[in-house]
Amino acid sequence: MVTPQGASAADPSDLTPIEQLGKHLLFDVNLSTPPGVACAACHGPDVGFTGPDSAINAAGAVYPGAVHTRFGNRKPPAAAYAGDSPILHYDADAGTWIGGMFWDGRATGETLGDPLAEQAEGPFLNPLEQNNPEAKQVCIKVSHSGYANLFREVWGPQSLDFVKDVAGTYQRIARSIAAYERSPEVSAFTSKYDAYLNGSATLTGQEEDGLELFEGKAKCANCHVSQPTDAIPKPLFTDYSYDNLGIPKNPANPFYSMPPKWNPLGDAWIDYGLGAYLK
Ligand code: HEC
Ligand code: HEC
Repeated sequence: MVTPQGASAADPSDLTPIEQLGKHLLFDVNLSTPPGVACAACHGPDVGFTGPDSAINAAGAVYPGAVHTRFGNRKPPAAAYAGDSPILHYDADAGTWIGGMFWDGRATGETLGDPLAEQAEGPFLNPLEQNNPEAKQVCIKVSHSGYANLFREVWGPQSLDFVKDVAGTYQRIARSIAAYERSPEVSAFTSKYDAYLNGSATLTGQEEDGLELFEGKAKCANCHVSQPTDAIPKPLFTDYSYDNLGIPKNPANPFYSMPPKWNPLGDAWIDYGLGAYLK
């Protein structure tokens, strides 16, 4: 099981209180039913906060939930560097949808004004992931945790009231997680490419050739934005839009053989991504 100690090179004391709180929440294995599956089970710090199991990644690529026989349908993307995605919207100039969270954009950000926080409300209650029956259970578990006092310090003495204000408490949990995901411990901007952009590193000849191809003939940068712009000062190799890449099925994905309750279409299931959500 992944532990918070492995979380990063940064000194944990560098985190602000809300970021520290979010870190506790992201690594808390008690926040699933049954206990055992933290967010970090599918978003491991040692692999850039994506799926940490190379055997799984090489095969079905989807991760078991708290009930170990249940699998979701998609591979976990990185939970790092996700905080700059805007609220899902149609960009008429670009002629495309931009923003939101998840592969299909369904955590739009419209409810909380923040796609990343809105995303964090999902997994705790997803029966294929952390499988808590309702938000109240999550709030109760947090109120019994070792970091409950930190929670009240960050959000106020009444902030963990799971009797009077489940919705507000649950939102605060989600916003705390988003704060940690945006922190320099998770979204560090310490890659060689970041150093190259700010002038403190030079690329090798081969790297220069690669970048030229990437931005030129190979057209990768058409979608994977690599140069800073006014809108995106720190490029993250994404344009926050959606593309149908025509990726074929992965027959090793265990979701195809999940019972009809979770996958009524069986082998015929097709991931329509954003299209299915917008429909
Ligand atoms: C059982 C594995 C699993 C667990 C547990 C889990 N996730 Fe995920 N996570 C996924 C998968 C799979 C996706 C993509 C789902 C989709 O697109 O439908 C995802 C998507 C995300 C994304 C969206 C990234 C993007 O670019 O769109 C974020 C952020 C994230 N998870 C954070 C979390 C947090 C925070 C928790 C705990 C509250 C959590 N995850 C728990 C598997 C998991
Ligand atoms: C039409 C837009 C488009 C073009 C052009 C494109 N990609 Fe992608 N690429 C995507 C999408 C969409 C994904 C999957 C979602 C994601 O990771 O954002 C993806 C995923 C990837 C990933 C996996 C990222 C991850 O987090 O798992 C890599 C690596 C990648 N592309 C590299 C390239 C390279 C190299 C080129 C040029 C040869 C290229 N792409 C051209 C749209 C594009």
